[in-house]
Amino acid sequence: VIPAAGLGMRLAASSDRDPEPKALRLLEGRSLLARSAAVLAPLVEHVVVAAPGDRLDQVRRQLWDLAAPFVVVPGGRTRQASVGRALDAIDPSVELVLVHDAARPLVPRVLVERVIAALDDGSSAVVPGLAVADSLREETEVGSRPLDRSRVRAVQTPQGFRLEVLREAHRRADTFEATDDASLVELLGTVVTLVPGDPLAFKITRPLDLLLAETLLAGR
Ligand code: C5P
Repeated sequence: VIPAAGLGMRLAASSDRDPEPKALRLLEGRSLLARSAAVLAPLVEHVVVAAPGDRLDQVRRQLWDLAAPFVVVPGGRTRQASVGRALDAIDPSVELVLVHDAARPLVPRVLVERVIAALDDGSSAVVPGLAVADSLREETEVGSRPLDRSRVRAVQTPQGFRLEVLREAHRRADTFEATDDASLVELLGTVVTLVPGDPLAFKITRPLDLLLAETLLAGR
């Protein structure tokens, strides 16, 4: 499942009132979505993309050479709603699902394989996590207090799940909004397995991220 329906307001120039949706932005001539999908496709049986509702045909055209069968469904107002709609399009006989942000186009294949391996080993929910470089503080009512950075991980995608677990988590979430799928699965009491993440799986959120991705691609 590739959620790709976000607008990318943090990436757009502040003067741009109607920006190209983030996942459709080009990076060295190829969209973020097409790049992400191309990494995942050889490792899965089907791809479901949640795309901006007014861009379905454009997205289908961008994926013409994908190495797996795919469907494109209209996304929702939030990432969670977009993933929920994509899950509705998956055949119930499917056992395992990966959810990967279109906005992480440089995700290395080995990271996807690591997540799949953890699912094959029996985990119901798998997330890649990276150690955090900065010191961390939490805001309090009067000021702030430090957090132990050695105990936290920045969470990436792809995240892997048994399909029935992720479906149930989305059903139960109701009005609870989470920024990733592992946080929803937690609501069911399911153990979430961490595997090492990869710096190259960074999410393109702000202009600096796009610049980094362009520089990395130019150096390849
Ligand atoms: O906004 P953020 O960068 O966290 O989005 C992560 C991923 O979720 C992106 O690939 C984005 O396209 C997707 N998304 C979505 N539907 C939304 C919002 C975000 O599919 N309504």
